[in-house]
Parts: sequence; C-alpha cells; structure tokens
Amino acid sequence: MLPLGCFLLSGLLLCYADPFLLEAQKIMNTTPAIDGHNDLPWQMLSRFNNQLSLPAANLSQLQGTHTNLPKLKTGRVGAQFWAAYVPCETQDKDAVKRTLEQIDVIHRMCLRYPEALACVTSSAGIEEAFRTGHVASLIGVEGGHSIDSSLGVLRTFYQLGVRYMTLTHSCNTPWADNWLVDTAAGEAVHQGLSTFGERVVKEMNRLGMMVDLAHVSVDTMHDALRVSRAPVVFSHSSAYEICPHRRNVPDDVLLRVKETHGLVMVNFYNDYVACGSQASLAQVADHMDYVRQVAGAPAVGLGGDYDGVSRVPVGLEDVSKYPALVAELLRRNWTESEVRGALADNLLRVFREVEQVRDRMSSEAASPDDTPIAFEELQGSCRTRYGYPASADRPGFLPALLVLLLQAGWLL
Ligand SMILES: *[C@@H]1O[C@H](CO)[C@@H](O)[C@H](O)[C@H]1NC(C)=O
Ligand SMILES: *[C@@H]1O[C@H](CO)[C@@H](O)[C@H](O)[C@H]1NC(C)=O
Ligand SMILES: [Zn+2]
Repeated sequence: MLPLGCFLLSGLLLCYADPFLLEAQKIMNTTPAIDGHNDLPWQMLSRFNNQLSLPAANLSQLQGTHTNLPKLKTGRVGAQFWAAYVPCETQDKDAVKRTLEQIDVIHRMCLRYPEALACVTSSAGIEEAFRTGHVASLIGVEGGHSIDSSLGVLRTFYQLGVRYMTLTHSCNTPWADNWLVDTAAGEAVHQGLSTFGERVVKEMNRLGMMVDLAHVSVDTMHDALRVSRAPVVFSHSSAYEICPHRRNVPDDVLLRVKETHGLVMVNFYNDYVACGSQASLAQVADHMDYVRQVAGAPAVGLGGDYDGVSRVPVGLEDVSKYPALVAELLRRNWTESEVRGALADNLLRVFREVEQVRDRMSSEAASPDDTPIAFEELQGSCRTRYGYPASADRPGFLPALLVLLLQAGWLL
C-alpha cells in the first residue's frame, strides 16, 4: 500500500503522503500483525473441497477472497491463527473427521508455500517467523463440538498443533452454552460450563492450549474466566457497549479480562462492529479505543474474521489493510508501545503465560484427565458405547425390558 491519504475535492482526487501510514508501516516492519481468526481454510473446503493443487486454489493469486499471499504481505501480517472450523451441523455426525481435515489442509498450506508460510506451535515460533519474514501459521479449532466431548480428541488436536479452541461455535455442546442462549433464538442448558466443561478448560491449561471465548454465552465466559489458570482470549469479538450484539464482549467481562491479563481480538464483521450491514475502519478503531479504555491497552488485539464473513468495513476490505487501521490508531494518539501491543505483543504475552502455566502444571505432575464424560450427558445416537458399563445404560433399559418381555411371550 502506498503511504497516501486521498480525498475528493470538487471532483478532483487529491492525494498526499500520510505520515501516520508511513509510521504504521515502519512499526509493522519490526512488529507485524498477529491476527486471531481467519477462515481461509473454510474457503479452501467450500470452494475447492480442500484440493490445494487445483490451479484456481493457488494462494499466490487466489481471487474472490479476503486473503491471499500477496495481500498478507502488503498487510504486514506476521502471524495468523487459521480457523479449523466445521459447522455445528456436523455435531453428533462427522465433526471430528471434518475438523481433522481442516487441520490437515492448514498443514498442507504450509507445505505448499514454504517461502510464505511457516506452521508453528509456540510463542517462540511466532517470533522466529517474524525474523525470517514468514507468516507464522497457527491452528485454532473453532467450536467445542469438534472434540465430540472427548478429552482424548482434545489432546490429539494439541499434538497436531492446535493452540486454541473456541469453547463453542453457535450451538451448545454437551458441556457448554453458546452465545445464542443470550438471545431469543437459544435456551441455556448448562448456565455456562458443565462440570465436564470445567474439566475441558483445565485440560487445555495443562496442555498449553489457549481458551477462546468468542461465540460463547456470557455465563460461559464468566465460568471459563473463573476456572482457567491461564489468561483467556477472545479470538474474534468486539465490544458490546459499542455495538450491542451478543457475539460481542460486555463490560463486566472486559473487566475480568483486565484482571486476568487476557485479550480481546477485535472482530471486523460489519454486523458486530456497527450492528448493521455498513461499517467503517474508524468504527473498528472505536471498538479498539473502547477495549483499551475499559480493559486496558494490554487487552487489545486483532481478530479480523476475514473470509469467515460476508461484509467487512470500508477501508478494511481485505487482509492488506491492517496498516491503515494502525495509522488510524496513531492518528488517535495511541503510543507506539500500545500499537505494538495490539499488533503482536499482547498476544505473545498471553501465549507465553499459557505456556508457563503448562510448564508449571507439568512440574506439579498434573496428569492427563482420563475420566470420560458420563454417557448420559452425550446427546445424539451415533456413538457406540465401548468402555461404558452396560448396566448404566438407562436409555437402553426400556428396549432391553421389551426384548425380555417379548422373549417371554408376554406381549405376543
Ligand atoms: C502458483 O502460481 C504461481 C504463479 O503462476 C506459480 O509460480 C507457482 O508455482 C504456483 N504455486 C503453486 C504451489 O502451485
Ligand atoms: C492527539 O494529541 C494532539 C497533541 O497533543 C492533540 O492536539 C490532539 O487533539 C489529540 N488527538 C486525539 C484524537 O486525541
Ligand atoms: Zn466465528
């Protein structure tokens, strides 16, 4: 992006060198942006059935998306959490398999474009990618339905490089309520996290996987903030006070984020920014100003939600536009260190703290939680019940009784 500001005057397009944009680009040369949430992997699935080898799927010249490699470079994106997202419709069906496939497509993106992307799994890996000029590529699983209520699946995701999990998408899981329960469209089942849900959070702490509270209900936010030993993130959520959409973060939660040194990575989706179909870059900056005011500058981050949403603000049309947003923050008198915080340092601080909690729990000899969820807490009928005692089979009791009665001839 040329460091130019432009405006129309009597039909003439006048351009001038924008000192704030120059300053933004300079800052981003050493502190590039870390973005909390990008749905390019979902685009790969929905457009190409994950066939990265198709000519149209070439990330160097991908068209019709917010994200491609040249745009990432122009946008000075230094690290991206790619979403391994599968819709709630997969819950109780093929959620685990499809999530594995989205993890696989992210791994294959890194393999196919080694000059541009580097798959990493640690805060040190992000810093190393900054030095080598790669986009550090990390994996976030978007929605607790992806683990099918299994801590074994959660641990396996960690082994595959997953470094955050959003506790829910837009559906309840058997152990956590989602944001829709705070609207007329949903009904609370657990009033936050169930006992098993609290154990999911603790196991994430033990593993060193960040707890992401985008998409969860307010009660789930508070429960996770209470239970988690490590700071939490909102990978792509904005401020409820500025736009009262239930996907956004209310003030009482922002204060808890401040107390616990967590992070709100501001979402750019017009509907969450402006509570309408139109939005501007300045309105995104308003959300960042607000999070800074209530939760403090160390709590501000970026979570564009690019390629996961249909409408983005004027001025933030794609991932190449982060420097324009940083210029706006500088124009609003954000200090250089506040800007570097929002770009990368705040996420790095949270990630390091999550890694330290993992190390502390390891030195306390915390062992993997191997108690499965109670079979009765699972919904849906697709699962076999190996390992669970047959005697606890309450749903199967009546059919079993019927069979006995039939065998005895009493019902014939
Ligand atoms: C993508 O397209 C570019 C430009 O045509 C080409 O040089 C490159 O080899 C392609 N990359 C892959 C991985 O297909
Ligand atoms: C930024 O600081 C300058 C100089 O102190 C001041 O004139 C200006 O009003 C401030 N701008 C904002 C948006 O606070
Ligand atoms: Zn989302």
